[in-house]
Amino acid sequence: MRILSGVQSSGKLHIGNYYGAIRQFVQFQDTADAYYFIANYHSLNEVREPKRALELTREAAMAYLALGLDPKKAVLFRQSDVKEVLELNWLLGVVAPVAHLERAHSYKDKVAQGKSPDFGLFAYPVLMAADILLYSADAVPVGKDQIQHIEFARDWAVKFNMQYVPGYDPADPDGKEKGHAPGILKLPSAYIQSSTQTVPGIDGRKMSKSYGNTIDLFGDEKELKKRIMSIKTDSTPVEAPKPVPGAEAKETSEAPEGTQPGEGALVSKVPLYDLLKVMLPEADFRDVDASWRAGGKGYGDYKKRLLEAFHATFGPARQRYAELSADPGELERILHDGANRAREEASRLMEKVRRAVGIP
Ligand code: TYM
Repeated sequence: MRILSGVQSSGKLHIGNYYGAIRQFVQFQDTADAYYFIANYHSLNEVREPKRALELTREAAMAYLALGLDPKKAVLFRQSDVKEVLELNWLLGVVAPVAHLERAHSYKDKVAQGKSPDFGLFAYPVLMAADILLYSADAVPVGKDQIQHIEFARDWAVKFNMQYVPGYDPADPDGKEKGHAPGILKLPSAYIQSSTQTVPGIDGRKMSKSYGNTIDLFGDEKELKKRIMSIKTDSTPVEAPKPVPGAEAKETSEAPEGTQPGEGALVSKVPLYDLLKVMLPEADFRDVDASWRAGGKGYGDYKKRLLEAFHATFGPARQRYAELSADPGELERILHDGANRAREEASRLMEKVRRAVGIP
């Protein structure tokens, strides 16, 4: 099974990125054929300062390694090192309906936040589909906010195959039944970990760089403490949390039901409780849950507990991150090797794609 995913290098990585995606990346590298990249072309929609763009790309790569991705097990590379992605981006653009792009949640949210509706932002899902389809991914581990993008990738792959592969039948996309041809572009599925599909930020909205409500993985200690201590709580004494819709959903490898929360929607009424649930080992969380329901402690105690959990979980990764910062040559070697492996795969697919569409 081929697994592929990426993160944008548009800012500091946060615990939403880890629990929603990167933790699953680490798990899959032991059992699957895994490809993970840094979406540094995508990040140019946000980062327009070249030095910063380079720095953030390097930081994202260091974060991957520090959090446990192993270049011997997975292919780690920069999106921009495999230029074939730009070619496939165009060829998918040829079949991608504007109506799909117009209803893309991420585009609408960003524009509602006041971002300029530039073409790069509008066409973001096309490049993302190219990222996925170029490597014939079966499953894409992501947080819930990316589901729609993966659905688009599937739709456009079907449309491409129907257009260009004689004998292709969307009901038999791999051509396993007699008489049908397999698609050139493989149909990917989202892999979502339900328990962490939307990690709340310190204000209860989805944790996101663009809301300024993140707990960063590799930020400085003082800021980390400040962020955790400012997690939104009521001034009333600690009470049992109200159930949050969807929070109890079972783990699944399929995209869960339900619609995308609108711009700025609350995803957690009690973010401190939900963050403890995300971060603590199950047995520890059961104790915290019991004490929370008994109303035994104040919010400050639970915030300290969360800070401790953060250090217990990410302390070693933060240490490795600091070590990696001191050896930029090693990082470059890893990315260079990953790019070569990714390019080999990409050029194989692109040969078929070019032949199919009539590009010499
Ligand atoms: P990005 O950089 O915004 O986020 C990286 C991953 O982190 C997940 N995530 C979250 N999960 C749960 N709760 C949160 N609060 C939270 N915030 C972020 C995201 O769902 C994502 O999985 N478009 C992608 C990057 C990309 C990509 C791709 C991913 C480009 N091409 C191809 C997969 C395949 C993005 O913006 O991720």
